[in-house]
Amino acid sequence: MLVDSFGRTIDYIRISVTQRCNFRCVYCMPNIPMNIGSEEEDVPLEGVLSFIKVAINEGVKKIRITGGEPLLRKGIVDFIAQIYQLNPDIDIALTTNAYLLAPLAKPLKEVGLKRINISLDSLKKETIQCISKRNGLEKILQGIEAAKKEGFLIKLNMVPLKNINDDEVLDILEYGMHLGVGVRFIEFMENAHAKNDTKGLKAREILEKIEKKYTFKLLQQDIFGPATLFEITQAQESYIFGIIAPHNDDFCKTCNRIRLSSEGKLIPCLYHENAIDIKEAMLYGDSQEILKSLKLCIENKPEKNDWNENQTSMRAFYKTGG
Ligand code: 5AD
Ligand code: SF4
Repeated sequence: MLVDSFGRTIDYIRISVTQRCNFRCVYCMPNIPMNIGSEEEDVPLEGVLSFIKVAINEGVKKIRITGGEPLLRKGIVDFIAQIYQLNPDIDIALTTNAYLLAPLAKPLKEVGLKRINISLDSLKKETIQCISKRNGLEKILQGIEAAKKEGFLIKLNMVPLKNINDDEVLDILEYGMHLGVGVRFIEFMENAHAKNDTKGLKAREILEKIEKKYTFKLLQQDIFGPATLFEITQAQESYIFGIIAPHNDDFCKTCNRIRLSSEGKLIPCLYHENAIDIKEAMLYGDSQEILKSLKLCIENKPEKNDWNENQTSMRAFYKTGG
């Protein structure tokens, strides 16, 4: 078991399999040229798999595949199949923008993927284009519907932004409600790579928009993640949504995760500059070296993140998977 210096058990790993993305979201990587990176620059998936083997041996129970956009990675379905074959009890999840999801939903389900988090910032074609620089709404909705049809556990992520999509909080909530999937509203996290004038809605402002139409009550903290959950009850039906509010919630006490970046670096905390490069060790499948670095990473995990509202993250979320 991996236990850090503050007694927290680390059993969750987020893995960014590529920094490449087919979107250019304003809150993520708006100024990066469309053609950066190539398949060859990404750590080979066999290497990542040798890391995963070590991590599972050390008691890791949950693995989330992120990017960039993970579905751009060739061989991603087979990669997930191999994780499943290592141990079918591992909770495997994927975070995607869903642009490429529709044709992959069935194959992903067949190889053992269980959960998918999908970014859905708007239901308007023009707004999706404005946020992500891609005319992708139709494909995104097809992806969501295909995933729903396959019976995945789905969560929709929305980052409400001032003067861009802040008029759609209720629309996205109701879209999730009617489809029977959860919605998580995420406060925009300031970072050095986002578009300069980007301003996010704070949790309070998001809740005020929802209050205009629904009454809801606060539930206990989501045991599966950093979201605060709320329950809307209407005509005996209940619907749960969540808010992820890094500006006022303290996730650190219960943090159970570390990250592997698309560059092959082990990152003990999203807002902490320390990282351990295990690219070589993964390339050689050197499990001794990987284990040594994994233990060092856990040992170095800071008690709290180095972030506050006035400070932006220098590390790009598209390399660490957010
Ligand atoms: N602030 C908040 N959420 C972000 N995401 C990416 N960058 C940011 C940011 N700066 C989240 C979005 C996206 C997912 C991949 O990560 O919800 O859907
Ligand atoms: Fe791509 Fe996700 Fe970043 Fe948007 S937030 S640019 S979809 S990695």
